[in-house]
Amino acid sequence: ASQLSLAEERERRRIATEVHDRVIQSLAICRMNLASLLGSAPSARFTKYLGETNTLIKQIINETRSLIFELSSPLLYELGLEAAMEQLTEQMQEKYGIVFTFEDDRQPKPLDDDIRVLLFHMVRELLINITKHAQACHARVRMKRQDGDLRITVEDDGVGFDASQVNADKWRTKGFGLFSIRERLHYIGGHMEIESKRGNGTQVILTTSLKQE
Ligand SMILES: Nc1ncnc2c1ncn2[C@@H]1O[C@H](COP(=O)(O)OP(=O)(O)OP(=O)(O)O)[C@@H](O)[C@H]1O
Ligand SMILES: [Mg+2]
Repeated sequence: ASQLSLAEERERRRIATEVHDRVIQSLAICRMNLASLLGSAPSARFTKYLGETNTLIKQIINETRSLIFELSSPLLYELGLEAAMEQLTEQMQEKYGIVFTFEDDRQPKPLDDDIRVLLFHMVRELLINITKHAQACHARVRMKRQDGDLRITVEDDGVGFDASQVNADKWRTKGFGLFSIRERLHYIGGHMEIESKRGNGTQVILTTSLKQE
């Protein structure tokens, strides 16, 4: 598996974002324009070529999406979400001297590529939070399939914090991490629960639906 430096990974992600924002976005507009022309094509020849071009652009968009995924998350792409998370916990353990445990129920967890990337980054943010704020000795990441949902639990035995604010409907802490996890999870139809009290460790549960098989 690839061991990318942080700087390299950041650079890859930047390029992936640029390609997404500039190339895919524009291609999508081309498709919309073509689709509206298709509706009033003056001849069968127009219809044929416009239709073919439309299909081709759709293929280019899909190909580019795969490339972006490969580029921005090589680890995820090569290993899959579970193995990538496990490797992440190993790296964090080496770097921060906190004992990380990873558990997976080994059930199939079908997810779209972009959702896998999102979840991976969310878990990474939660683990970084543990290293920054928790003063923990142990931390654990668990992945579990529950009916049609995926539940990812990230917990630590550190100092904890007052999570009532974070759990409130309208909230925004001084940081951006938890806020953005909550927003992005919401956007894909999932949710986050935080269980934490001062002196009592922290447990964060991310829930999202799995793809129908
Ligand atoms: N595992 C944890 N243990 C103890 N406190 C935590 C933990 N996770 C979060 N917190 C508390 O919740 C606050 C909000 O976390 P959040 O990730 O939103 O912001 P941040 O980490 O401070 O900043 P940012 O993520 O924007 O770099 C933190 O500042 C910290 O006080
Ligand atoms: Mg944070």
